[in-house]
Amino acid sequence: MCGIVGVVSSTPCKDFLIRGLKKLEYRGYDSSGMAIADLEGNVSIAKAIGAPVNLDKSLRENIDSTLATGTVGLAHTRWATHGVVSEANTHPHSCGRVTLVHNGIIENHADIKAQLSVSMKYNYQSQTDSEVLAVLLEHLMSNGETMQSAIQSMSEMVKGAYGIVAIDANKTDEIWVARSGSPMVIGLGEDANYVASDALALNAFTENFVYLDEGQIACIKQHSYQIYSSVGEPQSAQETHIPYKADCDSHVGYDSFMAKEIDEQPDVIERLIRSHVDKSGIKADSDLFLIKGKLRNVKQLHIVACGTSYNAGLVAKHFFEDYAGIPTSVEVASEYRYRAVAVPENTAFICVSQSGETADTLAALRKAKESKYLTTLTLCNVETSAMVREADLHLTLQAGTEIGVASTKAFTTQLSAFLMLAATVCEDEEKQISLIDSLLRLPDDCRSALLLSNEIKVNAAPIFEKTNSCLFLGRGEQSAIAAEGALKLKELSYIHAEAYAAGELKHGPLALIDNEIPVVVNAPGDCLHEKLVSNIEEVNARGGQFVIFSSKEAVVDLDEMVNIVMPPLPLTTACITYAIPLQLLAFHVTKLRGENVDKPRNLAKSISVE
Ligand code: AGP
Repeated sequence: MCGIVGVVSSTPCKDFLIRGLKKLEYRGYDSSGMAIADLEGNVSIAKAIGAPVNLDKSLRENIDSTLATGTVGLAHTRWATHGVVSEANTHPHSCGRVTLVHNGIIENHADIKAQLSVSMKYNYQSQTDSEVLAVLLEHLMSNGETMQSAIQSMSEMVKGAYGIVAIDANKTDEIWVARSGSPMVIGLGEDANYVASDALALNAFTENFVYLDEGQIACIKQHSYQIYSSVGEPQSAQETHIPYKADCDSHVGYDSFMAKEIDEQPDVIERLIRSHVDKSGIKADSDLFLIKGKLRNVKQLHIVACGTSYNAGLVAKHFFEDYAGIPTSVEVASEYRYRAVAVPENTAFICVSQSGETADTLAALRKAKESKYLTTLTLCNVETSAMVREADLHLTLQAGTEIGVASTKAFTTQLSAFLMLAATVCEDEEKQISLIDSLLRLPDDCRSALLLSNEIKVNAAPIFEKTNSCLFLGRGEQSAIAAEGALKLKELSYIHAEAYAAGELKHGPLALIDNEIPVVVNAPGDCLHEKLVSNIEEVNARGGQFVIFSSKEAVVDLDEMVNIVMPPLPLTTACITYAIPLQLLAFHVTKLRGENVDKPRNLAKSISVE
């Protein structure tokens, strides 16, 4: 997925576009570009490889008058899907009077290209699926269609996902927007109107927004906008107010967003928990009661998600089955959405997502809404996202904006929200009270886990400086935390990290063990500790080297190991507190290897394409 921003104003818009792109670079940073028009119909394009800062630099060195003075513009930061990282494949793409930027994937771009080649000879400049849209719109408009009717015809022809912003050189006092699958939001300003993939890019300029729904098209002018259905009917829109918080998109005081977001965990978890529970239990005004009501007859749960959110689901399975006795299955969304799913009576569907825009998870939710589920619930960090708008119920994570591509505070708030939910549907009063006690002390427990950062940096991270692979082990809930630890290290340091339920080692992965491959183990000293120690012994017998995070009581005495002793913590929330040292390990190893902790290669923050 890419980031798109656009504006119709009365003042030169180059700086606004650059600032917007920098806010959206978490969505892709392979290359970026912009097109700016003046009211005489001149349209100029500039492109640069790499993050938007490179485009900014090149424009400071060399800029033509339209780019410098034009007041209407659109811009794009790319995460490459079709075509290599190159200037030619960088957006905007233009053909004749049409210039556009696109976020999404046009699955039938080759068919459309073939159809177009029958009636028009066109020398394509790029390898992208997106350029085909510009050629298609130009073709339709040169055959008499207006920009609006051309976009409507386009939406009937294309298969896949798109969020586009387009400008017609013959009418440069407006820009056109369309969405199907990819998020698009309009920002309503005093003396300008804006559009972007995420309100984050516009929030410093306006707090009033209109989210485009599936299939909608919009025409944006300086002081007005009109939304149309996919068949051209004018539609009214609901405005959303999002107060601007200056610190939400900067990492002042930290060297990176990831460092800031890891450190914010105790506070954001506290905010989430305190908004729903207190010493006397679940607060009367908490949404948890509404959700409990809807889950009254639930007999089963289907949890669906991707990546880190999927790992949170794996932990939640333990919570719901252990504390509430509700059978729970967990599945990756990209598989769930194309599989024939059996939905027994009284089954509820839960999707988990930081962004609320992940295409596979969103498609799974839409499929679930077509199925016989009791209800659909989303645990999500973005209140204005498509998943929150479309699910029957939602529980927002209140983690604040998460910019670092590697999810950290969203993960621990997902686990905290799931534990609160399990406590809410738990019918064993005594158990419920102890769960709530553990939840109320959790923020302080996380604060003490964060104190290990320097010890991890000095004693554990150096072991991974030169390695290319490693293993993470855990048992019970900790096997899911091991999976999350491996994912963090993989996506940030590019070490091939695998996670296994420790009992599974002897069935194959043990063959990987030698004195080169570090093995990371979480040993909180729970009821599976003895079993875990035998697995550790199996690895030790093959010369493995260990980094073990354990409680004081569960210290394992081995030759080749770094044992980092965790503060005394309740076992109920150990799956949350023991996630933090694994985040810190990935952070420090990545720094040590000189990689970028906020913008890992080949990845982006919210995957709004399939
Ligand atoms: C996690 O660090 C990754 N950024 C990725 O796996 C992410 O968790 C996944 O893409 C799901 O995103 P979501 O939570 O926004 O749906």
